[in-house]
Amino acid sequence: MSYDITKIREDFPILSRSVYNKPLVYLDNAATTQKPLCVLDAMREEYLNVNANVHRGVHWLSQQATELHEGARETVRRFLNARSTTEIVFTRGTTEGINLLASCFSDAFMREGDEVIVSTVEHHSNIVPWQLQAARKGIVLRVIPMDDNGLLDMEAFARMLSPKTKLVSVSHVSNVLGTINPVEEIIRLAHAQGIPVAIDGAQSTPHFAVDMQALDCDFFVFSGHKIYGPTGIGVLYGKEEWLDRLPPYQGGGEMIEHVSFEQSTFERPPLKFEAGTPDYIATTGLAKALDYVSAIGMDAIRAHEEDLTRYAVSQLSAIDGMKIYGVPADADVQTLHHDAVISFQLRDIHHMDMGTLLDRLGIAIRTGHHCAQPLMDRLGILGTSRASFALYNTREEVDGLVSAINRVAAMF
Ligand code: ALA
Repeated sequence: MSYDITKIREDFPILSRSVYNKPLVYLDNAATTQKPLCVLDAMREEYLNVNANVHRGVHWLSQQATELHEGARETVRRFLNARSTTEIVFTRGTTEGINLLASCFSDAFMREGDEVIVSTVEHHSNIVPWQLQAARKGIVLRVIPMDDNGLLDMEAFARMLSPKTKLVSVSHVSNVLGTINPVEEIIRLAHAQGIPVAIDGAQSTPHFAVDMQALDCDFFVFSGHKIYGPTGIGVLYGKEEWLDRLPPYQGGGEMIEHVSFEQSTFERPPLKFEAGTPDYIATTGLAKALDYVSAIGMDAIRAHEEDLTRYAVSQLSAIDGMKIYGVPADADVQTLHHDAVISFQLRDIHHMDMGTLLDRLGIAIRTGHHCAQPLMDRLGILGTSRASFALYNTREEVDGLVSAINRVAAMF
């Protein structure tokens, strides 16, 4: 499939609706993406014609449902270029993936005084799970500092690594700034000291190809709903040798090998981490979404979104009093290495006012702290206005955003 934006937009009927009698311009894709018809159709079809619990029945429907569910795991494996489907654990999303990791990893490998390193740009989902473990086990959270443009201080990071460091857990892309973190270098430095690395891929997987074998991270998490799939489904990738060594997360059905009242033994990964009936309809939807983006091509999506992002930065920068976070003022926009997220502040107009007024003009953005309050503290602000792009957005929509911001500016 070539990059046919008209055809792509037809796949997402919601994009044709209007709000307040204005055509919808949906620029809140970092929060969640819209779903193509093929994802909705596949899920409806499974409920209509296949629905049965997976892994449990000898009957025909259950076997069909199991085939779809395990086929989805293979689709995820291929998408991530993982070595094996045993490395693909289904979760409810990125947040659950990190909570699972924090709980199981600290149980298995961490004691009082041990350290986990995160970065200043983390989402709360990659801070709070570690803090919960810190309170439980006395482990210490250390934070990679950043400069005023959101670039991580790699020299400081190298100095932070020590025998006390048991894990590094960082985001691939900042959900606020759109900065692409140097995860390859982080992994290289950590591995040189035998320290495993977890990557929060919630904001990278929708925008560019990720390859577990090339990246060589030890864990990687992402969410289905941010990559055109359904809500409530996500993935934790873990290298087999690590998953094998982690204890189960929750107990129940599916994850056991044998249960008696005296003791239980557990399945091998990934089922060891998947207690209870999995959301097998959602895994079908996720697989369809990954097939959909793969058919367009992640490189084509990246090129399209990079063009949009650079165009938006150049157009927004021209507005008087505009501050864009995470993009140096003297950056060469044409070579900007940035993800499809732009956080901005116009003069002293409150981000809530900006978001509310843009909404009345049909433009959906997110405002506030974006679940990254420590980053806001570092920037010395309470929040930003954030426009975030997806594969279906257009330059015309960026023009609409710019002209709407100019209208808001004129009101103050
Ligand atoms: N993590 C999502 C965002 O950044 C919800 O908006």
